[in-house]
Amino acid sequence: MSDVVETDVLVVGSGPAGGAAALLLSTYGVANILVTKYGRLADTPRAHITNQRTMEVLRDAGVEDQVVAQATPQHLMGDTVFCTSLAGEELGRLHTWYTHPARLADHTLASPSRICDMPQHLMEPVLVNNAVARGTTLRFDTEYLSLEQDADGVTATVLDRVRGDRYEIRAKYLIGADGGRSKVAADIGLPMVGQMGVAGSVNILFDADLDDLVAHRPSILYWVLQTGSDVGGIGMGLVRCVRPWHEWLIVWGYDITGEPPELTEQYAREVVYRLLGDDSIPVKIRSSSLWTVNHLYAERYHRGRVFCAGDAVHRHPPSNGLGSNTSIQDAYNLAWKLKLVLDGAADPSLLDTYSAERAPVGRQIVDRANQSIGETGRIFDALGLLSTEDPDEMLKNIESRKSATPEGERRRQLLREAIAFKDYEFNTHGVELNQRYRSAAMVPDGSEPAFPRDEQLYHHATTWPGAKLPHAWLGRDRQRLSTLDLGGHGRFTVLTGVGGEAWIDAAAEAAAALGVTVRGCVIGPGAQYEDLYGDWARLREVGDTGCVLVRPDNHVCFRHPAAGPDAAGLLTGALRQVLGRV
Ligand code: FDA
Repeated sequence: MSDVVETDVLVVGSGPAGGAAALLLSTYGVANILVTKYGRLADTPRAHITNQRTMEVLRDAGVEDQVVAQATPQHLMGDTVFCTSLAGEELGRLHTWYTHPARLADHTLASPSRICDMPQHLMEPVLVNNAVARGTTLRFDTEYLSLEQDADGVTATVLDRVRGDRYEIRAKYLIGADGGRSKVAADIGLPMVGQMGVAGSVNILFDADLDDLVAHRPSILYWVLQTGSDVGGIGMGLVRCVRPWHEWLIVWGYDITGEPPELTEQYAREVVYRLLGDDSIPVKIRSSSLWTVNHLYAERYHRGRVFCAGDAVHRHPPSNGLGSNTSIQDAYNLAWKLKLVLDGAADPSLLDTYSAERAPVGRQIVDRANQSIGETGRIFDALGLLSTEDPDEMLKNIESRKSATPEGERRRQLLREAIAFKDYEFNTHGVELNQRYRSAAMVPDGSEPAFPRDEQLYHHATTWPGAKLPHAWLGRDRQRLSTLDLGGHGRFTVLTGVGGEAWIDAAAEAAAALGVTVRGCVIGPGAQYEDLYGDWARLREVGDTGCVLVRPDNHVCFRHPAAGPDAAGLLTGALRQVLGRV
């Protein structure tokens, strides 16, 4: 054994959860070591949909532009096609990822950031390179083996896979971001609910110039409905664009109760040509791999000084594109809390709120993603594929939607409805943005606003303590910036309006008393920031002289309708509660 290495936070795993945790910790000035098992970051595309909330996190971390520069933009993501093969018959389309004009308006109004498609092998270098540039110590080929924790810290034993020796890393806290087979989560005995290995899927990565087949209907997802594609996996064959329009990934199901397929070049080619529907297209198979659909979540995310994030605590299929998004957002919730506890500004009990706030989100997304697979069955049903096992009968049923008969009309209607219902997989703006935290790190103010529209499909902006800070465009020095740009940056932020200056003094007083940074911002005519479109006044749900207190993760934690003589007492009291210092 070599000498013990010491740090404040040891992060295990360099995927989206671990990469984001290291990046944010280093951004906040927390010493951290990132260990990862292999000598590289992700070498296959894996997760890709990067939703607005994640882009807001990356914006706060100052790397949003690096992602935008490499990602496939929204306007090329969403003319999603359901077909019998790429060259074959088109059964219908759905505007996905908020590209329908009506949903684009919701999307544009909700955030300064846009959804985009950023494959994981491109995302991880952005997270990890920036983490290292800001201070993270990165150790490749370093495998976490075990841990022991005591009152002051955690001692992890790791294996140097190059030298072959083991050594210890002593940290004040450990983040287990070691993915869907998390050893850290198992070692601390996190309570898991659900099942692994619900269904089997095959990923086939390949190069092919498919411009002719897709350029007139640009999308990152093409769903291919063929007999056999409803076995296991995601319910249909999927042709996913990795880089427009020459790098692709096919997802195909296999029966998990039997032997998995042998992933030969010939098998991969057969599946690819089956889904493309044209075997004259030159194809280069790059790799094939097996994975399983899981339905599992942890009811608690930590034990003592060890915290888990990402797939370690929520394991689910790629439907709804929530995997890496939720992983990055877990890290955003945890990193500032660790910073303030390590600084002595917050009581360690603040860290308990990580589980309280994120475990309900994890459960929701695991259930949502699995439900979406089941709902694909409506399309099979609409086309008459569930009423028979005879392939000829199935083809006849698919054809019958073209006939001028009552049966044909019924099928057409059922198919339209079944495809439109997939909004619950591809346009769940509410699932992505409506996360409302309930924990000791929030100061409730009475009743919680109801959702005026379907809470899964639509985002409802509110300053209710627990919700994400609403986005509104503000102006300063001929520049446009978002309310979200005032918040974040590892500090608390107080937003008030004309006549609410007492809150700014209160913020300074509270900051001095508690040893935290609280930025005060006045928004209104002639104030620091102009409310350019009047949107902030419409969204803030407090009066001009009221106050909205925002945590470093841009969630509102306290609000008050108007300024009064005790602004300082109220604000200091609220911050004390959030910091666990009551
Ligand atoms: P992730 O699995 O990304 O990272 C775990 C990290 O921990 C890795 O760096 C790993 O090397 C490291 N590690 C593991 N054990 C360790 C140990 N003992 N010591 C040190 N390091 C250790 N999602 C999606 O939405 N669409 C998709 O198409 C796919 N496809 C897909 C394919 C494959 C092959 C995989 C593995 C996963 C997917 N996913 C996916 C899931 C998606 O990739 C996943 O939700 C996120 O990557 C989760 O991010 P994490 O950081 O939590 O784990």
